[in-house]
Amino acid sequence: MNIARSARAPLRVPSVWPITQSRGVQTRAPRPARPSTRVSPSRQQFKPDGSEQPPSYKGPTMSPRLMTFLGVSVLGISMYCGFLYASYSRQVTKAQSLDVPTDVSDRYNTIASSYDAEVDMSEKIMRMGTKRANLIRLAHGDVLEVSCGTGRNLEFYELGERRTVDEQGRAALRGCRSLTFVDLSPPMVAVTKQKFEALHPEYRGVAFRAQDAASVSVELPRGTDAKGSSVGNRTSGLVSRPYYDTVVQTMGICSMPDPVAALRHLGSITEPSQGRILLLEHGRSHYDWLNRILDNLAPTHADRYGCWWNRDIGAIVRESGLEIVEEKRWHFGTTWRYVLRPRRVDQNI
Ligand SMILES: C[S@@+](CC[C@H](N)C(=O)[O-])C[C@H]1O[C@@H](n2cnc3c(N)ncnc32)[C@H](O)[C@@H]1O
Repeated sequence: MNIARSARAPLRVPSVWPITQSRGVQTRAPRPARPSTRVSPSRQQFKPDGSEQPPSYKGPTMSPRLMTFLGVSVLGISMYCGFLYASYSRQVTKAQSLDVPTDVSDRYNTIASSYDAEVDMSEKIMRMGTKRANLIRLAHGDVLEVSCGTGRNLEFYELGERRTVDEQGRAALRGCRSLTFVDLSPPMVAVTKQKFEALHPEYRGVAFRAQDAASVSVELPRGTDAKGSSVGNRTSGLVSRPYYDTVVQTMGICSMPDPVAALRHLGSITEPSQGRILLLEHGRSHYDWLNRILDNLAPTHADRYGCWWNRDIGAIVRESGLEIVEEKRWHFGTTWRYVLRPRRVDQNI
């Protein structure tokens, strides 16, 4: 260290400390002892005669502003919870007083034009687009979608069949040779048709029908070649074939009067060896508390939206006798995905 240089360097003194002058040398005054705010009672020295009392423990203090903020927040949250509970109780009382028929499927005739707007936000929050896309990706060959509604799966279909290999390296087919969209409600199918024609104006291997899923027939759009590119036009008629390669249904079980019968029928028109039935449904949860809420409010929801949201989808699928290839659940168990196949004839239902 360069001593001469450091001796010339000005002495830096914190301006907040008092400076005393002593024989020409600046010294720092001793720092005044700060009163201790936190003294542990166990460390305090007491006189033997007990004249000194242990100080009471003072915990960390909170500013009045923070206390006011917390107080107001707690009050606001309590009021909001009280309001929610009161309106939930009112809704439950109202729901229990309603006399709603099991078959509420006619509601879709009146809500077809507003359906998409009603479900858009909740589907975004629940990331249903990804779940739809991952399921529809599995559709191949001659495809039937029942309860198609307003065609919320349309954008995910791969048009045109092609040969490929699956994850195990085996030869497989991908893509759709033909598409048939069916819904019980004519206004809902009309929305699907309109959307499809805007999306794929050139595609000819498609048909739209207002029909009950429980009795839908196998009628393929005519004029579709093996690649799905088509000849003829959309109104050129239909050809009959005994099976569909893939049957799709999303969010349909909730609105059918007899979903078990409908699934059995769908199994009977699905190709027996390689054919698949793809379902994405909503219904009962894993949790009793959530099921209680669904049960309590079900009549109001069904009356307004034509959908029984408290159905046990797993029980319905098992009762149908279809073979479960894959089962998945999300959203507290309320969203169900199934890949099913027709039960082989050597198996009992
Ligand atoms: C909740 S919407 C679902 C629409 C669409 N699949 C989706 O994923 O958004 C239920 C649809 O099922 C239809 N539906 C109800 N019962 C049906 C039946 N027995 N056969 C065919 N469609 C039916 C209704 O008309 C309605 O369009």
